Amino acid sequence: AGDVIRRDRFSGGPARDFLSSLAADKRIFDADLAVDRAHVVMLAEQGIISDGDAADILVALESVEEAGHAELSGGEDVHEAIEAAVIGRVGERGGKMHTARSRNDEVATCIRYRLREDVLDAIEGTLALREALRETAAEHTETVMPGYTHLQPAQPITVAHFLLSYEAAVARDTARLLDAYGRINHSPLGGAAFAGTPFDIDRERTADLLGFDSLLGNSMDASSSRDFLAETLAALATHATTISGLAEDLIIFANKGYVDLSDDYSSTSSIMPQKKNPDTLELVRGTAGDAVGGLTGLLTNLKGLPRAYNRDLQLAHPHAFRAVDAVVNATDVAAGAVATATWNSEELAADAGDGFSTATGVADALAMTGMPFRTAHEIVAAAAEDIGDTDDAATTAAKLDAAAEAVLGESLWSRVNRETVESLLDPDESVASRDSLGGPAASAVETQLDE
Ligand code: ARG
Repeated sequence: AGDVIRRDRFSGGPARDFLSSLAADKRIFDADLAVDRAHVVMLAEQGIISDGDAADILVALESVEEAGHAELSGGEDVHEAIEAAVIGRVGERGGKMHTARSRNDEVATCIRYRLREDVLDAIEGTLALREALRETAAEHTETVMPGYTHLQPAQPITVAHFLLSYEAAVARDTARLLDAYGRINHSPLGGAAFAGTPFDIDRERTADLLGFDSLLGNSMDASSSRDFLAETLAALATHATTISGLAEDLIIFANKGYVDLSDDYSSTSSIMPQKKNPDTLELVRGTAGDAVGGLTGLLTNLKGLPRAYNRDLQLAHPHAFRAVDAVVNATDVAAGAVATATWNSEELAADAGDGFSTATGVADALAMTGMPFRTAHEIVAAAAEDIGDTDDAATTAAKLDAAAEAVLGESLWSRVNRETVESLLDPDESVASRDSLGGPAASAVETQLDE
């Protein structure tokens, strides 16, 4: 039947497979049926085709749907193949389905129709990950851990504070995906090849039947623009980058014994029997490559394309579909890994003060007495050279005092209460003291959780 509607001159010849998107179009098979139905209903309502022809075409579409994508053959793509299948069932009248449209507005509509669903999946994935981060955080508002900058011990924080930092970032990823959804959700149908149609079509009606918020007004823009794909891929690539950082942190923490991944999210070695590896998180980290690669591939495809439709576009949307699949899978796995991991509070507490990570709190306490922060920084920095992880609070305090004598020429204890300084050397106290808005103190984290 495909041969019936394709003129021999353009049968494709040796380039037929190269031209064909039929296999990749499986992704938009359901979308194309929906688009066909909406279009046929509108054509009948507008009196452009008869109700009888419309009814027969709709029945044929039902049977094409039941047969499935695998039964399609003939034609360069799913649009032609479905049309051929309809013609095969109802005869030549089936060709009326393609009145007042082109494959150009048809495919653009199918992509948007299908991508809405995929972006909703991606959004749901981010919501589930955020829930896992929040629920785990709620259990660990008092679990102190080392916090890092430059991957060096910096200041003690809590597991909750760490997890909520990612929750906040993923919340913005959700918002970006929602934004993209809003701009996907417009109907190009009726733009035809790019230059509209003389038929009295009702574009609002098809937009409405297909659940689009509104339509793309300019027919050339409708049929040929793909910036909605770029925006979606940018949101996906950004989210994939966010979760690659989360995965990397968890891989490092697993390495240090701070967190144990559940066996469900771990893998082993085929030769080293004792190994428990964070492979799932490594794949989450690596998924950024798929998403960023997809974005780069898409933008390279779109760059410099003239108006209006060009066949390059057939290779554009598959970048988005591949990336969304990869990112949805990675987000689901990240959520599962977070929800099932065990945080080892003893190991975390034992290391929370390593590298004199409470030093900033001591400098802050000195500055609170009125000493310029830069002077306080100098005293604590001088002492830090001499302070080791095994020093107890009294020893550290004595070394701080010696540094103050050297820098100020007087004892530290004439400026600040010795007990106050010693207590701030305790990572728990250090965390509790940093209760500014958004800080790691349990009270501040509770506020973040409530929000
Ligand atoms: N399969 C094409 C695509 O995905 C749509 C066909 C438009 N073809 C054309 N020659 N105008 O972009």
